[in-house]
Amino acid sequence: MSSSTAESALRRQHQILDHLRGNRPETDPKAVISHVAIYGAGIMGSGIAQVAAQSGYQVALWDVTQADLDRGIQAIRKSLTRFARKTNQPADWVQSIVSRISPTTDQLAACFSADLVIEAVVENLPIKQSLFSRLDTVAKASCVFATNTSSLLIADVSAKLSDERKRRTIALHFFNPVAVMKLVEIAYMDGTDPELLTLLKAWVLDIGKVPVLCRDTPGFIVNRLLVPYNIEARQLVERGDATIEDVDTAMKLGAGYPMGPFELMDMTGLDTGYHIMKAWYDNAPGLSGDSRFKPSPEMEQMMRDGHLGRKSGRGYYVYDN
Ligand SMILES: NC(=O)c1ccc[n+]([C@@H]2O[C@H](COP(=O)([O-])OP(=O)(O)OC[C@H]3O[C@@H](n4cnc5c(N)ncnc54)[C@H](O)[C@@H]3O)[C@@H](O)[C@H]2O)c1
Repeated sequence: MSSSTAESALRRQHQILDHLRGNRPETDPKAVISHVAIYGAGIMGSGIAQVAAQSGYQVALWDVTQADLDRGIQAIRKSLTRFARKTNQPADWVQSIVSRISPTTDQLAACFSADLVIEAVVENLPIKQSLFSRLDTVAKASCVFATNTSSLLIADVSAKLSDERKRRTIALHFFNPVAVMKLVEIAYMDGTDPELLTLLKAWVLDIGKVPVLCRDTPGFIVNRLLVPYNIEARQLVERGDATIEDVDTAMKLGAGYPMGPFELMDMTGLDTGYHIMKAWYDNAPGLSGDSRFKPSPEMEQMMRDGHLGRKSGRGYYVYDN
């Protein structure tokens, strides 16, 4: 990055932080956002639907097939039931939250009344772009579009949107498992309206999470640091330097991490990790062509075998789903 580009990025960051710290009246997100539409009922989409409904928002949850939706709703029920048991909630508590979620396979109808759309479909740029551009034609002009992408740029995901909508498009990057992990990265483009950041920051706090801000850069904060760490762990094992189990034990007991890199990659889903690496190797500013991000033959083989981690019952470890 040239020094003038770096300076202007820093100036922009300071403007946004000044705005967020300024003396503004408290923003009540529920005065602006009541309906949230979530696209993708997989690991992330179902978790986001759960925390939004738990915080009192009406949620439309879309996925490709009824079976995808059923799996998502079942995961939500399971997570809520566990929480209800731990916190002694009344008997009808789980159902009262699930009833705020309307599952549907009707893609356009799901966003008619949405104030906030969050897409959590597969990490695939053309799929995310075409979903957003379809929704742009029917969503309210005031509706905010958010992507939960792990690796793509908001600029790319929003490339086919109208200029007006682009200004109302950001990233809301949740962490897995959503019900447990406190962080949400809010990433913004140069043209993002700072008022939108104030609103989304308030919304994230309202659903019980902690927001951090990041410019629109590959992997935002967490994945930019975590992906190279996971790659180093895999290479260590592929070279035969140590076993999967010993690497995981080492990082838990030696570095104080709650789980080892292989346990984490299994939980995240190997396909998600694979798509991040491919997207960065093929096309990310400052990262493309970096051989570290080229998926190894071992990783390609696991993808072909469908060994995607916890969700498929087998990844680096075997699971009894
Ligand atoms: N897994 C994680 O730890 C994690 C964390 C943060 C962000 N993310 C991001 O969240 C998004 C979803 O990841 P996930 O882990 O929930 O994946 P997932 O595989 O659990 O869910 C993806 C969903 O996309 C749907 N889908 C599949 N093909 C589709 C198509 N052609 N059009 C529309 N939808 C389609 C699937 O039915 C599925 O419900 C990705 O962008 C991922 O990078 C993942």
